[in-house]
Amino acid sequence: MQKTELPFIREMFDKIAPRYDLLNHLLSLGQDILWRKALASELNVSGKGRVLDVACGTGDIGMEILRREKSEVNVFGLDFSINMLMLASKKIKGKSKESRFHLSAGNAFYIPFKDNTFDAVTIAFGIRNIGDKLSALKSFHNSLKHGGMLLILELNTPKKGLLLNSYLLYFKKILPLIGWLFSKNLAAYQYLPDSVINFPRPEKFADIMIKANFSNVRWKGLTSGVVNLFIGHKK
Ligand SMILES: C[S@@+](CC[C@H](N)C(=O)[O-])C[C@H]1O[C@@H](n2cnc3c(N)ncnc32)[C@H](O)[C@@H]1O
Repeated sequence: MQKTELPFIREMFDKIAPRYDLLNHLLSLGQDILWRKALASELNVSGKGRVLDVACGTGDIGMEILRREKSEVNVFGLDFSINMLMLASKKIKGKSKESRFHLSAGNAFYIPFKDNTFDAVTIAFGIRNIGDKLSALKSFHNSLKHGGMLLILELNTPKKGLLLNSYLLYFKKILPLIGWLFSKNLAAYQYLPDSVINFPRPEKFADIMIKANFSNVRWKGLTSGVVNLFIGHKK
């Protein structure tokens, strides 16, 4: 998928935005909440550090980070779907940490902040929608300060065996149906399994992170490898 296909992705997320949170919890059987907590627990940013959450969607990663951080971290959520951003803004409104959650419309390829600005960059379930992963990772690297960290959560298919077969059955047959029932958008929930199946194996994706100049790259499988949490650092 190349940069020219981005409008299709943006429109798709704009359309499914109102049902996004509900379907996320439903289709992942509530696991998505634990996956975001796993990411936030690995974050190591102190003082008034700045975290950029790329593809922030309805803002759940940012809110999880602000909820658990005792320090005065500021989170900057970036997404190219206005409808997703509007939902994020509604969710944070009136919360005690509202003034530390900043939302901007923008594309992951052209981060609208100066280089060397952030102590951490996070992206959850967004990198698989980006065809040119190396360019996107390089732009994350540029926006990090030296010593800053990158945390990526992404869905993947389990390796093989019974789990893979049941997973594929669920993903290819049952999930698009549930998605269609709740969002009336079959294309979006047919696209979802394809984007996951086409996502590189963890070791390959880690290589792309290394090519983008990240060091100490590692990953952890969550829920039997259905999700991976990748971590890398800018030297
Ligand atoms: C599956 S949602 C994940 C949202 C959120 N991170 C979460 O944990 O629920 C993917 C999000 O990525 C955004 N997105 C996809 N490609 C993008 C790009 N190139 N630039 C900015 N946002 C992008 C979509 O608009 C959507 O909100």
